Amino acid sequence: MALEIIRSIREMQSIADNLRFDKKRIGVVPTMGYLHDGHASLIQAASDISDSVIVTLFVNPKQFAAHEDLSRYPRDFDKDCKIAEQAGAHFLFAPSDEEMYPNGFATSISISGITQKFEGFFRPSHFDGVATVVTKLLLATKPHIAVFGQKDYQQTLVIKRLVADLNLDVEVYIKPTIRETEGLAMSSRNVYLSETERIQSLVISQAVTDAYTAVESGERNREQLNTILKTTLLSIEHIEIEYAVTANAETLEEPDIFTETESIVFLIAVKIGSTRLIDNAVWNPRQTN
Ligand code: PAJ
Repeated sequence: MALEIIRSIREMQSIADNLRFDKKRIGVVPTMGYLHDGHASLIQAASDISDSVIVTLFVNPKQFAAHEDLSRYPRDFDKDCKIAEQAGAHFLFAPSDEEMYPNGFATSISISGITQKFEGFFRPSHFDGVATVVTKLLLATKPHIAVFGQKDYQQTLVIKRLVADLNLDVEVYIKPTIRETEGLAMSSRNVYLSETERIQSLVISQAVTDAYTAVESGERNREQLNTILKTTLLSIEHIEIEYAVTANAETLEEPDIFTETESIVFLIAVKIGSTRLIDNAVWNPRQTN
């Protein structure tokens, strides 16, 4: 079946109603487009566990601050259609800004707690924008399952919180980060990097790997782990660290010393040149014992 492109929310909802009437399991993969292998892996995962896969493509203005890269965010609609279809999507839901946020739109979904630190501290209204658009996308596509990437780790916690708090009837799946062979996490924003910056950016995945290795060797002191992250990042010049932190992977709390049994996340956001990149790794005691 060829990929069907849907622009209207009403039409998307009526397609979803029909799929549900036919007892089809709907899987959705929300994206902002400029798809790469990371997005494709989520679409494939959705297609493995559902009958009808909807990819949403919407560059959501509400999650960008005024000084951020909304106007230059990369776009390639035709290529996105090809990648989505090849990965197993049946529908591409690509509404316009006016369709999503018509004149008079006044609602915002705001999540407290986990949204306040790290990414939320540096991008204060970002997670409200994400929560609001994800809620609208779920209401438009009426999925049984929704698939997100671990690449945006804090976002996955925000979405799980949103779904639990509002009793949204959808099962959330989180899939691993897909990386270039040298380790750089795939991102639509990697296209901004010059050749030199691309090589420099390898310190980001190296930093989380170094901290991960330290935890495996028994290090549980948070400051010590943060020092490992920062030392690796600062091995290149011209890097601006926004945050390079170690936290409890579920609560994002930052104890001085982690217990032997808690999951630990390393979270990094840096600027290399004018490009902002994020990455993370989760150390889970259950995986290693
Ligand atoms: P976007 O950055 O396009 O990412 C869409 C989905 O792809 C997210 O779940 C993200 O975590 C995942 N993803 C990105 N890079 C990945 C990689 N290298 N490996 C695996 N998954 C990856 O995240 C957003 O869009 C938006 O905030 C959105 C949720 C669509 C709301 O607007």
